[in-house]
Amino acid sequence: MYLRTDLSLLNLLLSLSDALDLASPELSQHQMRVAFASWEIARESGLDTDTLDTLFIAALLHDVGALAPEEKIAIQRSTLQYYDDHCVLGERLLRQVRILAPGSAIVRLHHRPARKWQEVEQTPVALASQILLLADILERSIDRSRFILHQQEEIVARISSLSGQTIAPEAVAHFLPVAAREDFWLDLVSPRLYSILIRSAPLRGRTIGLVDLKPVSAMFRDMIDFRSPFTATHSSGVATSAAALARLYGFTEFEVELMEVAGNLHDLGKLGIPTRILEKPGKLDAEEFAIIRQHTYHTYTVLVSVEGLQGIAEWGAFHHERLDGSGYPFHLDASSLNAGARIMTVADMFTALAEDRPYRPGMCKDELLGIIKNAERRGFLDKRVVAVLEAHYEEVHSLAMRAQTEALEHFEREFAVRPSEDEEETRAAA
Ligand SMILES: [Fe+2]
Ligand SMILES: [Fe+2]
Ligand SMILES: [Fe+2]
Repeated sequence: MYLRTDLSLLNLLLSLSDALDLASPELSQHQMRVAFASWEIARESGLDTDTLDTLFIAALLHDVGALAPEEKIAIQRSTLQYYDDHCVLGERLLRQVRILAPGSAIVRLHHRPARKWQEVEQTPVALASQILLLADILERSIDRSRFILHQQEEIVARISSLSGQTIAPEAVAHFLPVAAREDFWLDLVSPRLYSILIRSAPLRGRTIGLVDLKPVSAMFRDMIDFRSPFTATHSSGVATSAAALARLYGFTEFEVELMEVAGNLHDLGKLGIPTRILEKPGKLDAEEFAIIRQHTYHTYTVLVSVEGLQGIAEWGAFHHERLDGSGYPFHLDASSLNAGARIMTVADMFTALAEDRPYRPGMCKDELLGIIKNAERRGFLDKRVVAVLEAHYEEVHSLAMRAQTEALEHFEREFAVRPSEDEEETRAAA
């Protein structure tokens, strides 16, 4: 397997942050640019190294709570009505993951205007969240169709005009020396920002192992699934059934755990798919299907860009390929689809057929196995994997159902409430 047990945390977070901005060219690299600007400003501010690292992580993932591309685009265009929702949800998502939890308070507060703070300098979280707010407004002020140095003055004037009411004067004061440097602006909009950050950003040298990768993958699973009742608990079912099939197939326990991570992330690219297509109850037209087809391409390119995740990228992203080469989007065939990818394909199909969808109930065993065996006879699916599923159907089915029921309870407990707690905050920060 090509999984190292010591992934670079920076490499992982940069790639996952990229996945958050897949939805539209106008969002592209938004999280990463905001993280870069936050970090540059924070270095001027005298915040300690730990807070700098925490702010950088929070900034890379600051809009995790905006699950739908439509919500992210509305935030980008400042046309959203309630900014508070994605801050509350973002905090809840990050809080569940040990290595991300320290940044959750900053994410919670990243649209809170300066007038609601007493003394920003008094707590590092207050100053850090004000710097994040500044960086976010800065990035959203950029006109992507114009040369950046031609906009430098007007953007600085805009940020300065918000000093006091919206952005704390302390944060603006730390920004001004950074804004005087052309290299800051050129890096900020560089298409090579990813490689610039890999070389120079905080967190360099920090590694994480499987123990911490699992909860990170589970957080992305929740974001993918909880977006819509049409996907509801799908990734939980796929991760659990893929892991169960892998164990029964003879994979080692380490590989079974990797399979669960791959299952959590298999539909990562769906984060960029518009809700109207995801939720369309009827048949997709050719144009809509073309949009759906890119989701596993994005799952693959995001994961494979993390050194050490190549194996998980292949297991996760090849689930719409078929052994006869008629799948999508890579048109791989039996010669290049390994056992892990073959297991994921069966797990994805099994879960999709077994689970209730808003437009039809889950299928019974005979109907479901009939469809899967037919796909195997037509040369799409692996014979041995299908035989394992058939021989252990009840076991795989009950494990997947239990995981999906738990996921639903978790969703209802933690995420179903989307409170707009603070009227002023919700409308704040243009
Ligand atoms: Fe935001
Ligand atoms: Fe943002
Ligand atoms: Fe998929």
